[in-house]
Amino acid sequence: MRFLSAKRRHRAARPLLLILALFFLGVVYAGVAPAGKSNAEQTTTTQVQAGKELFAVGCASCHGLNAEGASQGPSLIGVGAASVDFQVGTGRMPMAHPGAQAPRKNNTYTDQEIEQLAAYVASLGPGPAIPSEEQYSPVGLSEHDIAIGGELFRTNCSACHNVSGLGGALPNGKYAPTLVDVENKHIYEAVRIGPQQMPVFSKESLTDDELRSVIGYLNQLHEEPNHGGWGFGGLGPVEDGFWVWIGGLGTLILFAVWIASKGARAK
Ligand code: HEC
Ligand code: HEC
Repeated sequence: MRFLSAKRRHRAARPLLLILALFFLGVVYAGVAPAGKSNAEQTTTTQVQAGKELFAVGCASCHGLNAEGASQGPSLIGVGAASVDFQVGTGRMPMAHPGAQAPRKNNTYTDQEIEQLAAYVASLGPGPAIPSEEQYSPVGLSEHDIAIGGELFRTNCSACHNVSGLGGALPNGKYAPTLVDVENKHIYEAVRIGPQQMPVFSKESLTDDELRSVIGYLNQLHEEPNHGGWGFGGLGPVEDGFWVWIGGLGTLILFAVWIASKGARAK
């Protein structure tokens, strides 16, 4: 009997140790991991809840109580957090007066409230997320990258926004706004969500790196709007050419007059 039990203890020792170790791991995991997870979940739930309340007060009259859309505003299900961040962050929403296009105006919500509104709309259906800073910050771009950004801008954007990014009119009382003083994050978001008449540029047609170059180009363009010449009211290169033409022709005429007068004296 003694012999048997000793042998059994010996044989059971290894699996028992393993079971103990697993049990210990389980206890540690139960104590740490799920607690962290439920904290994060709780934050999102409170964000969404707070967003829903803000939405009921400021947005539901046009977009419906559950953002399902109403006579005055479209459904927001699936537009994503980026669309809310852009629309509210640029002051377009809440729209003040019905019209062809919601204009930019001073935003009345705090950053935190915008996050809450965005979290609420994002909880209704998947859509583009708010970008992280690495996605839109032009820090670290080379001159070469920025030159590529300029080319991309002229190919994809200047038809509506003008080569100098100063905006332009579109049919039916709509317009492409100026891009001067638009936050980099909002440039990124506009390109990915395509508000109103603007097309959506997917990551396949314009990669994040290419978009960063475009942002870098726009920053540089509007930091030094003179391009080495005079601004002439910022009307762009056509106007510059016009003045060069006038100035150049004027000089030529003066030169011709001077030659003619010299020639007359020589006779
Ligand atoms: C007076 C009515 C009105 C109010 C109030 C209003 N909206 Fe809008 N909203 C509109 C209309 C109309 C459009 C579509 C026209 C446009 O995009 O310019 C729109 C568009 C949007 C879009 C773009 C949808 C898309 O397809 O990408 C978002 C996002 C949005 N609204 C969010 C909000 C939020 C958030 C609020 C509250 C802070 C709000 N709106 C308040 C009328 C309104
Ligand atoms: C077909 C015309 C069109 C093209 C092409 C276009 N946009 Fe736009 N863009 C618009 C219109 C229209 C709006 C205004 C939408 C609104 O107010 O709801 C706009 C808005 C914007 C805004 C928001 C500016 C603000 O006032 O907050 C940015 C930034 C922008 N566009 C950048 C770009 C960039 C970068 C490209 C090229 C990659 C581009 N757009 C291509 C028509 C265009």
